[in-house]
Amino acid sequence: MRDFAAAAQPLTDAGGLREALRAATSLVVLTGAGISAESGVPTFRGTGGLWRNYSPEELATPEAFARNPRLVWEWYDWRRQVIYQAQPNAGHQALVELEHRIAARPPGEGGFTLVTQNVDGLHDRAGSRQVLKLHGDIWLTRCTVCGALERNEYVLLKELPPRCRCGCVLRPGVVWFGETLPAAEWERASQACARTQVIMVVGTSAVVYPAAGLAELARAAGARLAIINLEPTPLDSRADWVLSGKAGAILPALL
Ligand code: OAD
Repeated sequence: MRDFAAAAQPLTDAGGLREALRAATSLVVLTGAGISAESGVPTFRGTGGLWRNYSPEELATPEAFARNPRLVWEWYDWRRQVIYQAQPNAGHQALVELEHRIAARPPGEGGFTLVTQNVDGLHDRAGSRQVLKLHGDIWLTRCTVCGALERNEYVLLKELPPRCRCGCVLRPGVVWFGETLPAAEWERASQACARTQVIMVVGTSAVVYPAAGLAELARAAGARLAIINLEPTPLDSRADWVLSGKAGAILPALL
Protein backbone atom coordinates (compact mmCIF):
# COMPACT_ATOMS: atom_id res chain seq x y z
CA MET A 1 0.00 0.00 0.00
CA ARG A 2 1.28 3.45 -0.81
CA ASP A 3 0.43 6.48 1.29
CA PHE A 4 0.95 9.48 -0.95
CA ALA A 5 0.67 11.91 1.92
CA ALA A 6 3.34 10.22 4.01
CA ALA A 7 5.69 9.07 1.31
CA ALA A 8 5.21 12.02 -1.08
CA GLN A 9 5.57 9.61 -3.98
CA PRO A 10 4.48 10.61 -7.46
CA LEU A 11 0.98 9.46 -8.39
CA THR A 12 2.42 6.92 -10.79
CA ASP A 13 -0.93 5.18 -11.33
CA ALA A 14 -2.76 8.44 -11.63
CA GLY A 15 -1.44 9.70 -14.96
CA GLY A 16 -4.14 7.96 -16.98
CA LEU A 17 -6.84 8.97 -14.53
CA ARG A 18 -5.71 12.59 -14.68
CA GLU A 19 -5.99 12.44 -18.47
CA ALA A 20 -9.42 10.84 -18.27
CA LEU A 21 -10.59 13.53 -15.85
CA ARG A 22 -9.20 16.27 -18.08
CA ALA A 23 -11.16 14.95 -21.06
CA ALA A 24 -14.37 13.89 -19.31
CA THR A 25 -17.64 15.68 -19.82
CA SER A 26 -19.37 13.31 -17.42
CA LEU A 27 -18.11 12.17 -14.05
CA VAL A 28 -19.75 10.51 -11.07
CA VAL A 29 -18.04 10.57 -7.68
CA LEU A 30 -19.33 8.21 -5.00
CA THR A 31 -18.04 9.01 -1.53
CA GLY A 32 -18.13 7.23 1.81
CA ALA A 33 -17.04 7.86 5.37
CA GLY A 34 -13.34 7.82 4.42
CA ILE A 35 -13.55 11.22 2.75
CA SER A 36 -14.51 12.78 6.08
CA ALA A 37 -11.97 10.82 8.12
CA GLU A 38 -9.35 13.56 7.75
CA SER A 39 -11.92 16.02 9.11
CA GLY A 40 -12.01 13.97 12.31
CA VAL A 41 -15.33 12.19 11.64
CA PRO A 42 -15.00 8.48 12.50
CA THR A 43 -15.61 5.89 9.78
CA PHE A 44 -17.73 2.78 10.38
CA ARG A 45 -15.39 -0.07 9.53
CA GLY A 46 -11.64 -0.51 9.78
CA THR A 47 -9.31 1.03 12.34
CA GLY A 48 -11.21 3.25 14.79
CA GLY A 49 -14.49 2.53 12.94
CA LEU A 50 -17.75 3.04 14.82
CA TRP A 51 -18.97 -0.50 14.15
CA ARG A 52 -15.91 -1.81 16.05
CA ASN A 53 -17.38 -0.51 19.29
CA TYR A 54 -21.09 -0.17 18.58
CA SER A 55 -23.59 -2.51 17.05
CA PRO A 56 -25.53 -1.36 13.99
CA GLU A 57 -28.45 -3.54 15.16
CA GLU A 58 -28.70 -1.53 18.38
CA LEU A 59 -28.25 1.92 16.86
CA ALA A 60 -29.07 2.08 13.17
CA THR A 61 -32.25 0.10 12.50
CA PRO A 62 -35.94 1.01 12.79
CA GLU A 63 -36.30 -1.81 15.33
CA ALA A 64 -33.56 -0.34 17.53
CA PHE A 65 -35.31 3.05 17.44
CA ALA A 66 -38.69 1.51 18.32
CA ARG A 67 -37.03 -0.33 21.23
CA ASN A 68 -35.01 2.53 22.65
CA PRO A 69 -35.38 5.92 20.91
CA ARG A 70 -33.43 7.68 23.62
CA LEU A 71 -30.35 5.46 23.21
CA VAL A 72 -30.42 5.86 19.43
CA TRP A 73 -30.80 9.63 19.79
CA GLU A 74 -27.92 9.82 22.29
CA TRP A 75 -25.71 8.19 19.68
CA TYR A 76 -26.88 10.49 16.88
CA ASP A 77 -26.58 13.51 19.15
CA TRP A 78 -22.99 12.54 19.94
CA ARG A 79 -22.28 12.18 16.22
CA ARG A 80 -23.89 15.57 15.57
CA GLN A 81 -21.51 17.08 18.13
CA VAL A 82 -18.46 15.51 16.46
CA ILE A 83 -19.60 16.61 12.99
CA TYR A 84 -20.55 20.11 14.19
CA GLN A 85 -16.94 20.68 15.20
CA ALA A 86 -15.50 19.20 12.00
CA GLN A 87 -14.46 21.22 8.95
CA PRO A 88 -14.42 20.08 5.31
CA ASN A 89 -10.94 18.93 4.27
CA ALA A 90 -8.84 19.15 1.12
CA GLY A 91 -10.63 16.11 -0.35
CA HIS A 92 -14.07 17.74 -0.07
CA GLN A 93 -12.64 20.94 -1.52
CA ALA A 94 -11.02 19.17 -4.47
CA LEU A 95 -14.44 17.77 -5.41
CA VAL A 96 -15.88 21.30 -5.44
CA GLU A 97 -13.13 22.33 -7.84
CA LEU A 98 -13.76 19.28 -10.01
CA GLU A 99 -17.47 20.16 -10.19
CA HIS A 100 -16.56 23.67 -11.41
CA ARG A 101 -14.13 22.35 -14.00
CA ILE A 102 -16.56 19.81 -15.47
CA ALA A 103 -19.37 22.38 -15.48
CA ALA A 104 -17.16 24.74 -17.49
CA ARG A 105 -16.64 22.17 -20.27
CA PRO A 106 -18.79 21.90 -23.36
CA PRO A 107 -22.09 20.37 -22.25
CA GLY A 108 -21.92 16.60 -22.35
CA GLU A 109 -24.45 13.98 -21.54
CA GLY A 110 -24.01 13.88 -17.81
CA GLY A 111 -21.86 16.60 -16.29
CA PHE A 112 -20.73 16.17 -12.69
CA THR A 113 -22.69 14.14 -10.16
CA LEU A 114 -21.66 13.78 -6.54
CA VAL A 115 -23.27 10.87 -4.71
CA THR A 116 -22.55 10.29 -1.06
CA GLN A 117 -23.35 7.73 1.59
CA ASN A 118 -22.36 10.28 4.22
CA VAL A 119 -24.90 12.05 6.38
CA ASP A 120 -22.45 14.65 7.74
CA GLY A 121 -23.17 17.50 5.30
CA LEU A 122 -19.45 18.26 4.82
CA HIS A 123 -19.76 18.22 1.01
CA ASP A 124 -22.41 20.97 1.27
CA ARG A 125 -20.28 22.95 3.69
CA ALA A 126 -17.29 22.69 1.35
CA GLY A 127 -19.44 24.21 -1.41
CA SER A 128 -20.52 21.27 -3.56
CA ARG A 129 -23.69 22.44 -5.24
CA GLN A 130 -25.61 19.26 -5.83
CA VAL A 131 -25.11 16.34 -3.51
CA LEU A 132 -27.21 13.20 -3.85
CA LYS A 133 -27.43 11.90 -0.29
CA LEU A 134 -28.29 8.23 -0.44
CA HIS A 135 -28.34 7.71 3.33
CA GLY A 136 -30.05 10.94 4.35
CA ASP A 137 -28.79 13.85 6.39
CA ILE A 138 -27.93 13.90 10.09
CA TRP A 139 -29.11 17.53 10.34
CA LEU A 140 -32.66 16.61 9.38
CA THR A 141 -35.30 15.33 11.76
CA ARG A 142 -38.52 13.64 10.71
CA CYS A 143 -41.65 13.19 12.77
CA THR A 144 -42.46 9.52 13.24
CA VAL A 145 -46.20 10.32 13.11
CA CYS A 146 -46.96 13.42 10.99
CA GLY A 147 -43.84 13.04 8.81
CA ALA A 148 -42.82 16.72 9.16
CA LEU A 149 -39.24 17.19 7.99
CA GLU A 150 -37.12 19.84 9.64
CA ARG A 151 -33.54 21.01 9.33
CA ASN A 152 -31.92 21.95 12.61
CA GLU A 153 -28.21 22.46 12.45
CA TYR A 154 -27.59 22.57 16.14
CA VAL A 155 -26.79 19.93 18.66
CA LEU A 156 -29.91 18.65 20.36
CA LEU A 157 -28.81 18.39 23.95
CA LYS A 158 -32.03 19.27 25.73
CA GLU A 159 -34.63 16.58 25.69
CA LEU A 160 -33.97 13.22 24.06
CA PRO A 161 -35.75 11.97 22.07
CA PRO A 162 -36.72 15.38 20.65
CA ARG A 163 -40.38 15.98 19.84
CA CYS A 164 -42.23 17.44 16.90
CA ARG A 165 -44.56 20.42 17.19
CA CYS A 166 -47.37 17.87 16.98
CA GLY A 167 -46.03 16.31 20.19
CA CYS A 168 -44.79 13.04 18.70
CA VAL A 169 -41.24 11.65 18.68
CA LEU A 170 -38.82 12.87 16.01
CA ARG A 171 -36.31 10.52 14.39
CA PRO A 172 -33.02 11.37 12.69
CA GLY A 173 -33.48 12.05 8.96
CA VAL A 174 -31.14 9.25 7.98
CA VAL A 175 -31.60 5.89 6.29
CA TRP A 176 -31.19 2.92 8.59
CA PHE A 177 -30.35 -0.68 7.76
CA GLY A 178 -33.46 -2.38 6.43
CA GLU A 179 -34.93 0.86 5.03
CA THR A 180 -35.17 1.87 1.40
CA LEU A 181 -33.06 4.65 -0.05
CA PRO A 182 -34.75 7.93 -1.03
CA ALA A 183 -36.27 7.17 -4.43
CA ALA A 184 -35.49 10.45 -6.20
CA GLU A 185 -31.81 10.44 -5.14
CA TRP A 186 -31.40 6.80 -6.11
CA GLU A 187 -33.02 7.38 -9.48
CA ARG A 188 -30.79 10.34 -10.28
CA ALA A 189 -27.66 8.55 -9.07
CA SER A 190 -28.33 5.42 -11.10
CA GLN A 191 -29.20 7.44 -14.21
CA ALA A 192 -25.95 9.39 -13.88
CA CYS A 193 -24.02 6.12 -13.49
CA ALA A 194 -25.65 4.64 -16.57
CA ARG A 195 -24.26 7.42 -18.79
CA THR A 196 -21.04 8.53 -17.11
CA GLN A 197 -17.62 8.21 -18.72
CA VAL A 198 -15.76 7.91 -15.42
CA ILE A 199 -16.78 6.95 -11.88
CA MET A 200 -14.51 7.66 -8.90
CA VAL A 201 -15.26 5.75 -5.70
CA VAL A 202 -13.68 7.54 -2.77
CA GLY A 203 -13.32 6.45 0.86
CA THR A 204 -15.94 3.73 0.99
CA SER A 205 -15.50 0.10 1.95
CA ALA A 206 -18.02 -0.62 -0.86
CA VAL A 207 -19.76 -3.35 1.12
CA VAL A 208 -23.12 -1.67 1.74
CA TYR A 209 -25.69 -2.15 -1.01
CA PRO A 210 -27.36 -0.78 -2.99
CA ALA A 211 -24.90 2.17 -2.85
CA ALA A 212 -21.87 0.04 -3.71
CA GLY A 213 -23.77 -1.36 -6.71
CA LEU A 214 -23.54 2.04 -8.42
CA ALA A 215 -19.91 1.37 -9.32
CA GLU A 216 -20.89 -1.93 -10.94
CA LEU A 217 -23.78 -0.27 -12.75
CA ALA A 218 -21.49 2.39 -14.21
CA ARG A 219 -18.85 -0.18 -15.10
CA ALA A 220 -21.39 -2.36 -16.89
CA ALA A 221 -22.54 0.68 -18.88
CA GLY A 222 -18.97 1.30 -20.07
CA ALA A 223 -17.58 3.78 -17.53
CA ARG A 224 -14.02 3.63 -16.34
CA LEU A 225 -13.66 3.05 -12.62
CA ALA A 226 -11.19 4.68 -10.23
CA ILE A 227 -10.88 3.74 -6.55
CA ILE A 228 -9.31 6.01 -3.96
CA ASN A 229 -8.97 4.37 -0.57
CA LEU A 230 -6.51 3.70 2.23
CA GLU A 231 -7.25 -0.02 2.07
CA PRO A 232 -8.20 -2.57 -0.59
CA THR A 233 -11.90 -2.79 -1.49
CA PRO A 234 -13.96 -5.53 -3.17
CA LEU A 235 -14.17 -3.32 -6.29
CA ASP A 236 -10.40 -3.12 -6.84
CA SER A 237 -10.20 -6.12 -9.16
CA ARG A 238 -12.65 -4.44 -11.56
CA ALA A 239 -11.09 -0.96 -11.39
CA ASP A 240 -9.04 0.81 -14.05
CA TRP A 241 -7.17 2.75 -11.38
CA VAL A 242 -6.63 1.97 -7.72
CA LEU A 243 -4.98 4.80 -5.83
CA SER A 244 -4.01 3.82 -2.29
CA GLY A 245 -3.77 6.65 0.21
CA LYS A 246 -5.66 9.48 1.80
CA ALA A 247 -8.42 11.16 -0.18
CA GLY A 248 -7.30 14.53 1.21
CA ALA A 249 -3.91 14.08 -0.48
CA ILE A 250 -4.84 12.18 -3.63
CA LEU A 251 -7.83 14.26 -4.81
CA PRO A 252 -5.99 17.61 -4.77
CA ALA A 253 -2.99 15.94 -6.44
CA LEU A 254 -5.25 14.71 -9.25
CA LEU A 255 -6.26 18.28 -9.98
P1 OAD B 1 -16.80 2.48 5.97
O1 OAD B 1 -16.41 2.85 7.35
O2 OAD B 1 -17.39 1.13 5.75
O3 OAD B 1 -15.53 2.59 5.01
C1 OAD B 1 -14.71 3.71 5.05
C2 OAD B 1 -13.62 3.48 4.03
O4 OAD B 1 -12.83 4.63 3.97
C3 OAD B 1 -12.70 2.31 4.34
O5 OAD B 1 -12.59 1.49 3.19
C4 OAD B 1 -11.36 2.97 4.66
O6 OAD B 1 -10.25 2.21 4.20
C5 OAD B 1 -11.46 4.26 3.88
N1 OAD B 1 -10.71 5.41 4.43
C6 OAD B 1 -10.49 5.75 5.70
N2 OAD B 1 -9.83 6.91 5.79
C7 OAD B 1 -9.60 7.31 4.50
C8 OAD B 1 -8.95 8.44 3.91
N3 OAD B 1 -8.41 9.40 4.66
N4 OAD B 1 -8.91 8.51 2.56
C9 OAD B 1 -9.45 7.53 1.79
N5 OAD B 1 -10.07 6.46 2.30
C10 OAD B 1 -10.15 6.34 3.63
O7 OAD B 1 -17.77 3.65 5.45
P2 OAD B 1 -18.79 3.61 4.23
O8 OAD B 1 -18.28 2.76 3.13
O9 OAD B 1 -19.17 5.00 3.95
O10 OAD B 1 -24.66 3.36 6.67
O11 OAD B 1 -20.03 2.87 4.90
C11 OAD B 1 -21.19 2.70 4.16
C12 OAD B 1 -22.39 2.74 5.08
O12 OAD B 1 -22.23 1.79 6.13
C13 OAD B 1 -22.55 4.07 5.83
O13 OAD B 1 -23.24 5.03 5.07
C14 OAD B 1 -23.31 3.68 7.04
C15 OAD B 1 -22.50 2.46 7.39
O14 OAD B 1 -23.05 1.57 8.25
C16 OAD B 1 -25.66 3.42 7.57
O15 OAD B 1 -25.50 3.81 8.72
C17 OAD B 1 -26.98 2.99 7.02
